Amino acid sequence: MSRQVTVAIAGLGNRGRDVYAPFAEMFPEHMKIVAIADPIPERIEEVAERYHIPLEKCFSSAEEMLEQDKLANAAFITTQDRQHASQAIKAMEKGYDILLEKPISPNLKECRMVAEAAEKYGRNVVVCHVLRYTPFYQEIKRIIDSGTIGDVVSVMGIMNVGYWHQAHSFVRGNWANSDVTSPMILQKCCHDMDLYLWLTGKTCRSVSSFGNTYHFKKENAPAGAASRCTKGCKAKKDCIFDAEKIYLTNEDTGVLAGNVGWPAEVLSSRPDEASIRKAIEEGPYGRCVYDCDNNVVDHQIVNMEMTDGASMSLAMSGFTP
Ligand SMILES: NC(=O)c1ccc[n+]([C@@H]2O[C@H](COP(=O)([O-])OP(=O)(O)OC[C@H]3O[C@@H](n4cnc5c(N)ncnc54)[C@H](O)[C@@H]3O)[C@@H](O)[C@H]2O)c1
Repeated sequence: MSRQVTVAIAGLGNRGRDVYAPFAEMFPEHMKIVAIADPIPERIEEVAERYHIPLEKCFSSAEEMLEQDKLANAAFITTQDRQHASQAIKAMEKGYDILLEKPISPNLKECRMVAEAAEKYGRNVVVCHVLRYTPFYQEIKRIIDSGTIGDVVSVMGIMNVGYWHQAHSFVRGNWANSDVTSPMILQKCCHDMDLYLWLTGKTCRSVSSFGNTYHFKKENAPAGAASRCTKGCKAKKDCIFDAEKIYLTNEDTGVLAGNVGWPAEVLSSRPDEASIRKAIEEGPYGRCVYDCDNNVVDHQIVNMEMTDGASMSLAMSGFTP
């Protein structure tokens, strides 16, 4: 029997506004948004109008929203990595079940505190390891659990991060610097790590890993590169990371080729040529990829020995199509 779940969303960025909120339109019998929080007024206005949320249920922060009595059945915590834990714990204390974006936290102690709070208050916490919920991986899980292929002794995986995705998220964008967000192994590869453990039911005993920032640094800038793609860069023509290519003309990602979803919607809430051009000219996504404040790895390998003696490996590369 279906039941409509009322939802309070904390964080109206790409995940809160663009990925999860639209489910309220797709499945109104299952989900209704009743409260929202974000410090950016335009995001509040846009989401409030689209989902008919009254002004008194719109808040300028998750913290302010969570000061109120419980407003919904569930809270979606879709803020940035280092905000998740404190907001999730507060929400559980207030009585909400939680949809919690990954990573739970870059801090192990905080991860444990979230688990303890769920236990203490008796709340459900669904962490957005979204691959678990795809038919493809559910079928693999079913096959492994059925024993058809026998024991899992060795798992080898490759995480191909598209070169433009690497540039967008991990050089120019939100997750470029692990001091303020989280490292690649948590930010991107937590999906793979989660799959390895969930699919096999195994636990890691020891791990070795190497990775570094190989390419996206000043000394690799081509001759004539400028600090912004649109400010007289002489290396533009042959540079695949040129922001105008990625966000305007590239047939897979550019708005001029009709791509107005992600990543364009990260640059503008109404992506078109003019708004994307303005974002490239003025914002972080027009910076030269060789002149950013990035420190996360652009390639990494991980080897794991499991408690039962099985082994697993993952190679992540940000230089793939
Ligand atoms: N499950 C996945 O596959 C997946 C994919 C991408 C991102 N994520 C995760 O989702 C989270 C959000 O990513 P995003 O791309 O939506 O980021 P985003 O920056 O687009 O959105 C974050 C939003 O939170 C708002 N915010 C900041 N402080 C706030 C506060 N105190 N209270 C309420 N809102 C506040 C920001 O204004 C912004 O609108 C990240 O932790 C990221 O790791 C998960």
